[in-house]
Amino acid sequence: MKHEEATVNVEQRGKLYEGKAKIVYATSDRNLVVQYFKDDATAFNALKKGTIVGKGVVNNRMSATLFRRLAKAGVPTHYVGTLSDREMLCRRLDIIKIETIVRNVVAGSLAKRTGLEEGTPITQPIVELYLKSDALGDPMINEDHVRMLRLATPAELAWMKRTALRINAVLRPHMLKRDLILVDFKLEFGRGAGRKLYLGDEISPDTCRLWDRATREKLDKDRFRRDLGGVEDAYQEVYRRLVGEPTDA
Ligand code: TMP
Repeated sequence: MKHEEATVNVEQRGKLYEGKAKIVYATSDRNLVVQYFKDDATAFNALKKGTIVGKGVVNNRMSATLFRRLAKAGVPTHYVGTLSDREMLCRRLDIIKIETIVRNVVAGSLAKRTGLEEGTPITQPIVELYLKSDALGDPMINEDHVRMLRLATPAELAWMKRTALRINAVLRPHMLKRDLILVDFKLEFGRGAGRKLYLGDEISPDTCRLWDRATREKLDKDRFRRDLGGVEDAYQEVYRRLVGEPTDA
């Protein structure tokens, strides 16, 4: 197998886990896995299902670009290399069952919870925690729940929140330069070898809200969630602005 940064001698092995948008495969190296990005899309805890043609390629390549940028800024990520349009070689992590959300502008569930209008600016970015559980529908939790459920140690949680804000400080201006407002996004962290913490999962229009700077047009998965149309075009536009030329898909 080869990838962009170096040649690695790992072979893909059996499926470890299949999620709604990705499949994770073991490799011949116990510390490495392959993330395969599907075109499948779900919303509202999989009540709504569909396909976004070319999404897997966009999400894989966009995540790779942003993981490399974050690594340069000193954020440890699980990204090791790009194997193909839909396959990423990653460090094997024990994923912490917390979804960490950072918000710069009111949207989605925060608008519903607070009654504030979508689009209201947030002066100081907000970090929220959700329990990663499909069975429970990812309920919002706080630090006391994290301790009670033993999801992460206080030191791990403090690192996650600090790192989430650092990631926001790197990505927000980077995207704004490309005329994208980073409204909010979801992160997942995990423990690698020696329990060291890394950013995992993906950073893509599935996991970020991205609005055009001038028109505030939604260029992310909300087009699918809310049946706004133009879903594929929005993903390709984000790809063009953040990665390069549109994909073939
Ligand atoms: P929310 O406003 O619905 O809570 O979503 C906040 C952010 O988290 C938004 O950028 C979309 C992302 N997100 C996910 O990545 N996965 C999910 O399951 C949900 C509900 C949101």
